[in-house]
Amino acid sequence: MSPIAPPRVLSGMRPTGALHLGHYHGALKNWVALQHTHDCYFFVADWHALTTHYADHAELERNVYDMVVDWLAAGIEPERATLFIQSRLPEHAELFTLLAMGTPLAWLERVPTYKDQIKALAGRDLATYGFLGYPLLQAADILIYRAAFVPVGDDQAPHVEITREVARRFNHLYGRGETILPEPATLLTETSRLPGLDGAKMSKSTGNDIAMREAPAEVERKVRRMQTDPQRVRRSDKGDPQRCPVWAFHQVYSDADTRDWVVKGCTSAGIGCLECKQPVIDAIVREQQPWRERAEAYLSNPKQVQWIVEVGTEQARGVARRTMRDVRAAMGLVY
Ligand code: TRP
Ligand code: SF4
Repeated sequence: MSPIAPPRVLSGMRPTGALHLGHYHGALKNWVALQHTHDCYFFVADWHALTTHYADHAELERNVYDMVVDWLAAGIEPERATLFIQSRLPEHAELFTLLAMGTPLAWLERVPTYKDQIKALAGRDLATYGFLGYPLLQAADILIYRAAFVPVGDDQAPHVEITREVARRFNHLYGRGETILPEPATLLTETSRLPGLDGAKMSKSTGNDIAMREAPAEVERKVRRMQTDPQRVRRSDKGDPQRCPVWAFHQVYSDADTRDWVVKGCTSAGIGCLECKQPVIDAIVREQQPWRERAEAYLSNPKQVQWIVEVGTEQARGVARRTMRDVRAAMGLVY
């Protein structure tokens, strides 16, 4: 490797199927930018999907494929970033197992997402060994690539924190003064937060989402039906953008002049809500245009997508194998 090799970045997403605008603005947009400045490894965390959805795996393959197509549609370039699938790399599971030996139960039980998710997914039985191990599996994903940076939203920051603790403990127990597994840093995504159509977190399961590959007519229909300031009942009522989910969309999609027009027009009842929504509709449809074109090309050639993932997986395997050789040696597992 050349001495000026860019720092390595590692991130993953659970395969939830076709992605929506919240995924794009919250994470994917940042990945697209990072591939120009960093050595990027992006992967499908399909085992992580099984920690919560172990009983309904029927759509897994399709979800994996749809998500990778959306990564490519968004502008991830396979020549710049290494794309792969977690379950194709048993090395992740081996590191997970070895790290598990010395990881105190209390570290996993106190991760805030643990209790939060159990509450949020109350319909599922998450009193499982796999779900408790979620952050440790994530630690293995990160440490096996000796990643310098992990770009994630703030909800995932505790998982990077536990990864750092796990690495520190490993180096302390087995490193003999050497750093076998470097501690990664969180790269907090400074992209914008785009809420759903109702102002809550955008999510396919609650039906308040716009898919990255949503048809233009659907985009128009969904935005036109969006809730607005509940206190603006009639056209002649003055409104307040702060109470309106459409305003959050303007903050992501509109320039300063348009935002100015919204604030003035809304608070003076100078514009109607449908009028206010039109620039948002136009901006989303415009943003989606290149995604649609790239997605169509990949969808008509699924073999190409498989090949991209195949090449990425073999690239990742080379790195993962080297780390595992060092880890086994450090732990005295070379007979
Ligand atoms: N837990 C992450 C999420 O839900 C997905 C993930 C799994 C991940 N392993 C990772 C992200 C490693 C970053 C690094 O979004
Ligand atoms: Fe919302 Fe715009 Fe209507 Fe004001 S004018 S309530 S910001 S949609």
